[in-house]
Amino acid sequence: MFRAAALLALVVSSLYPLQAQTGIRYLPGPKAFVLDAGPVTYVFGLNQRNELQHIYWGKRLWRDADIAAARTGQNWASFDLSPTTTPDEFPAWGGGRFYETCVKVTRADGGRDIVLKYQSHEIKGDTLEVLTKDLNDDIRVKVVYRVFSEGILARHSLITNETNQPITIESAQSAAWNLPPGEGYRVTYLQGRWAGETQIVREDVHPGMKVIESRRGNTGQVNPWFALDGPDRATEESGRVWFGALGWSGNWRITVEQTPHQQVRVVGGYNPFDFSYPLKPHENLETPPFYAGYTDTGFGGASRMFHNFELANILPRSTRNKPRPVLYNSWEATTFNVNEQGQTELAKKAASLGVELFVMDDGWFGARNHDRAGLGDWYVNPKKFPNGLKGLIDAVKGTGMRFGLWVEPEMVNPDSDLYRAHPDWAMHFEGRPRTEARNQLVLNMARNDVKEHIFGVLDKLLAENDISFIKWDMNRHASEPGWPEVAPADQRKLWVQYVRNVYEIIDRLRAKHPGVEIESCSGGGGRIDLGILSRVEQVWTSDNTDALDRLKIQEGFTQAYTPKAMMAWVTDVPNFNGRSTPLEFRFLVAMQGSLGIGNNLNHWKPEDFTLATKMVSWYKDVRRTIQEGKLYRLLSPREGEWDYNQYVSEDGKQSVVFAIQRSQQYGRPAPTVLLRGLDEKATYRLKPLDNRKLVEAQQTELSGAYLMDHGLNVRLTGDYSGTAVVLERLN
Ligand code: DGJ
Repeated sequence: MFRAAALLALVVSSLYPLQAQTGIRYLPGPKAFVLDAGPVTYVFGLNQRNELQHIYWGKRLWRDADIAAARTGQNWASFDLSPTTTPDEFPAWGGGRFYETCVKVTRADGGRDIVLKYQSHEIKGDTLEVLTKDLNDDIRVKVVYRVFSEGILARHSLITNETNQPITIESAQSAAWNLPPGEGYRVTYLQGRWAGETQIVREDVHPGMKVIESRRGNTGQVNPWFALDGPDRATEESGRVWFGALGWSGNWRITVEQTPHQQVRVVGGYNPFDFSYPLKPHENLETPPFYAGYTDTGFGGASRMFHNFELANILPRSTRNKPRPVLYNSWEATTFNVNEQGQTELAKKAASLGVELFVMDDGWFGARNHDRAGLGDWYVNPKKFPNGLKGLIDAVKGTGMRFGLWVEPEMVNPDSDLYRAHPDWAMHFEGRPRTEARNQLVLNMARNDVKEHIFGVLDKLLAENDISFIKWDMNRHASEPGWPEVAPADQRKLWVQYVRNVYEIIDRLRAKHPGVEIESCSGGGGRIDLGILSRVEQVWTSDNTDALDRLKIQEGFTQAYTPKAMMAWVTDVPNFNGRSTPLEFRFLVAMQGSLGIGNNLNHWKPEDFTLATKMVSWYKDVRRTIQEGKLYRLLSPREGEWDYNQYVSEDGKQSVVFAIQRSQQYGRPAPTVLLRGLDEKATYRLKPLDNRKLVEAQQTELSGAYLMDHGLNVRLTGDYSGTAVVLERLN
């Protein structure tokens, strides 16, 4: 009996090789830590100086004999001594290191040198904590790792002052990621601005340092994600890619450095810009998590790994295995002109389309008739809503939809009761002007009283009303980040404490109101990162809802983040940029994430309702595959006139292909595109959204082999045309 079980275990383990497993072990021989994260292995060890040194990060290793003890780099003349030529795993600034390090401190006596030596370690399941300490003082740094079966590692650090003097931290990074030394790397990152977020930029890494960052108090429109591919050049579906993202919604920085000695390193964590974090004896500072992975399946493989990881480990548990609802949002339809009757009419029309969640946006509170007043006064405007929110909520719920509400809690208009009562609650430097943006100031959320006030207001709102969704907005960045109420040396703690308090409010609200879902928004995509995504179900991707512009925004978004979290609305045309695209086209673009509708339905014709109802119903049949499946980006909008994306469900039974043509040169057909992620031996039934768009010669049943080796051929005519095809696996 026992032998049979052992045999079975052997067979099973050879059928399911290393991929699904995680594990961490210490090899006493080479003094190395081996971290297995599914298909990836990461190794670092202790060198002869008893310092942490990087050894390996790549495909899963299957034998420990490959791992040699870490040996420090050579001195290079008198100019670059060994500490600068060694791939340090978590270096502090000291001992002659001239490159970007992870920790920098100043002691009370002005001393700034710090050299970290290994002390001890502890392996707890999938977590490894390595304790290091300065060679002289009791300044401790715990370097923490966690492995995930999706091929991802999470790292952060904890800096503790165990001396009897205060110290000041000037740089606190979460991780240094060392790549195999060499030249010819490229870095890909997501640049952006308001209404033009997550734009892919790819450039060569040269000796020197590339910095991407936010100095704005929140994540900002430049996104804290990177991907590096090697001299062998990755493509969408092949080649080696090292990639990562920070989980922090405040000032962050990621540097990509190539040293003159061909070491290539990515360092990220709190932005050292305007950073100063004093620690009294026994106090500590924890850095945010920095998640990273490796693949040899190209940029597409890298994003699929991150998507899987996020679905399983980052997004709130409540969202797992539950499709995101189709929502309606009132903003573009009614802006600040909301009232019970108007919203009720819109809600009824939205419900008739199959919408499941009705969200009332800005304008419902205080004196909020425009963007010049009212922010901060979170009581229902009695003129617009004489029955409180209850009248509207009952009407919405009566249609079978859930109700959601917009808030912007971190902000205040100077023309508001809140500001008149508490002018000191806004961030400011004493005696200096307060820069307004969109006529608003930022509340100093680092203050305890402000935090408690905001928590109280939102808690009351949720307790008194049947609200199941809030859209949490933030429409400007921090300027004059003063905190005059605390000692001058502590004032810059604001950058960290602000974000921690926002997180705390969300966490407390979620604990007290477990049914409530949240969308993170900062004028669109200004607060999208793995820190906020562990607290919210979805994000508002961009205020730019033009379908064509969205193609590039969405392509960039999905490099790092799952389509499930990507809220995408269909809105009216002409869009703000003056462009008009057909309604079906707008649906086809918005359906590639979590679908929303933001049109003024009072302006729709009967045929618009017919088309939208059909699209919503079609979307509901395939949304699981779109939201939780594997995404293959087949043709990029950056490279030509087409944008094709394919989603394959986790069980492989369904696949959805979106084919979008931005413009057509007269007579030029859309290309035949090879599909991916199917089973060669399986047969698939093709269910086109529009029969006329499947090329005649095409069968309605095709093998995986044909679809992946010959491809799918759709007929697209004219500018702004598109279609979608569903493949159902038959055997
Ligand atoms: C910015 C958001 O991105 C919009 O969708 C809308 O909520 C407005 N703020 C409201 O002021």
